[in-house]
Amino acid sequence: MTFSLKNIESNHAKQLFKDNENTSVENTHVESSPVGIDRISFTTPHYYVDLTDLAKAREIDPNKFTIGIGQSEQSVPPNNQDIVTLGAQAALPLLKYVKKDKLKMLIVGTESGVDASKSSALYIHNLLKLNSCARCIEIKEACYGGTAALMTACDYVRVHKDSQVLVIAADIARYGLNTPGEVTQGAGAVAMLISANPHVLKINDDSVVKSCDIQDFWRPVYQDTALARGKFSSEKYIEFFLDVWQKYSEQNSCDLNDFAALCFHLPYTKMGLKALRAAMDSSENLSETSRVRLLEKYETSTKYSRRIGNIYTGSLYLGLLSLLELDGNPEIANPEVVNPGAANPAATSIQTSTIQTNSSCENQKFSSLKEGDKIGLFSYGSGAIGEFFTGTLMQGFKQALFASEHIEMLNSRAKLTVSEYEKMFNSVAKYCPEDFVSDTTHRDCTQFFLNSISSQERNYI
Ligand code: HMG
Repeated sequence: MTFSLKNIESNHAKQLFKDNENTSVENTHVESSPVGIDRISFTTPHYYVDLTDLAKAREIDPNKFTIGIGQSEQSVPPNNQDIVTLGAQAALPLLKYVKKDKLKMLIVGTESGVDASKSSALYIHNLLKLNSCARCIEIKEACYGGTAALMTACDYVRVHKDSQVLVIAADIARYGLNTPGEVTQGAGAVAMLISANPHVLKINDDSVVKSCDIQDFWRPVYQDTALARGKFSSEKYIEFFLDVWQKYSEQNSCDLNDFAALCFHLPYTKMGLKALRAAMDSSENLSETSRVRLLEKYETSTKYSRRIGNIYTGSLYLGLLSLLELDGNPEIANPEVVNPGAANPAATSIQTSTIQTNSSCENQKFSSLKEGDKIGLFSYGSGAIGEFFTGTLMQGFKQALFASEHIEMLNSRAKLTVSEYEKMFNSVAKYCPEDFVSDTTHRDCTQFFLNSISSQERNYI
């Protein structure tokens, strides 16, 4: 048989038909198994600065930081921590659920990567001793990178239903000392294991996305601090949210009453609240019960971020964790646990011995989240991309969380004075070819460290 274009086209068409047949059979099967977050965990550095102290040092009314911006504390990384060490640390609790031969990808979403070429996923892959058959890649689009990684992972698992994908969203948010953005800095990482039949949250295949080239926030490759048009970025965040939310509600014939809770990307906790209020104000049929419920659940979703700050790619998922782990948790009745300083401004450390993660809380007006509840999630990455998507809670999701470990990690952090924070901030490895040896004194409570940079190569232990 001679090859002609006609033959090729007809063979191609036959093949396509065959592929489609196979795909539709497989899709029918895959659709029956939910895909989403099987396990989710986070980490944050062991050090923090109190934002009331910082406000006083900057001669600003502390209420601007704690009320106007909505932040109480900020995690501060020592110079032996970067997004590689934070990412590996966040993933540690998930390793016992990883089936070695099933893990097919490790995707890191970050905008504070350590190399312009090599993926941070490869360093993490080595630190965690993962199998060599897993693809290791890094995704970048500002704070949206974590969602891009999650969506890529879910799409992969929908096609390869026996596989697992590890998603890590890790960042250190730096704007600089004495800048308007300083109060919104932070550091941390969220790790998520994505699989079929997940234990925590089914990710529904219903995203609405908006992308548009704007200049609201960016970071040139030669510096480690971000540049922002602060107010413009906050306006764009709300505009993107309203656009994707409106389209989502039209496409899915639903409204805010249909959601048990909404979670937002949280550059600072007041930001999501502004967006939520804007949507509620423009909603024609929002019931009073739904309005109060959404506000109460929003408040719960901001507890961790209020104490950690912006962790860029991981912020939305830190909000989700805060909601799932603190909702219905009796410790929430004690403001000191999740909002230190609320009862006593001098308080710095809280005991957590009585935490029970799945009991109901008398002080909550609304019943705890339960299996089948639908949660809306808004992801925003400057530059900019906005995406609204939803998740459905799985049966027994509370038992799959690491709530007490997370609360204990937060409450056992060490407080820095403002001058200690400034010294730590300035001690970071510089963007230059000089050798660097990291601090050996701040190595508490973490397993992985950036030990040194020699001849422009990073050495982790
Ligand atoms: P600012 O100019 O310092 O603050 O910048 P302000 O003057 O706008 O005041 C902030 C709020 O505090 C205002 O409330 C004031 O009224 C209030 P609002 O009108 O907004 O509701 N206030 C007080 N409240 C109580 N008592 C007082 C008092 N004084 C004032 N005494 C800004 C704030 C957030 C703009 C700044 O910190 C900044 O530039 N941050 C960085 C950029 C940012 O976070 N943008 C958010 C949207 S973009 C995004 O989310 C993406 C991002 O995560 C990056 C990525 O995608 O990779 C940032």
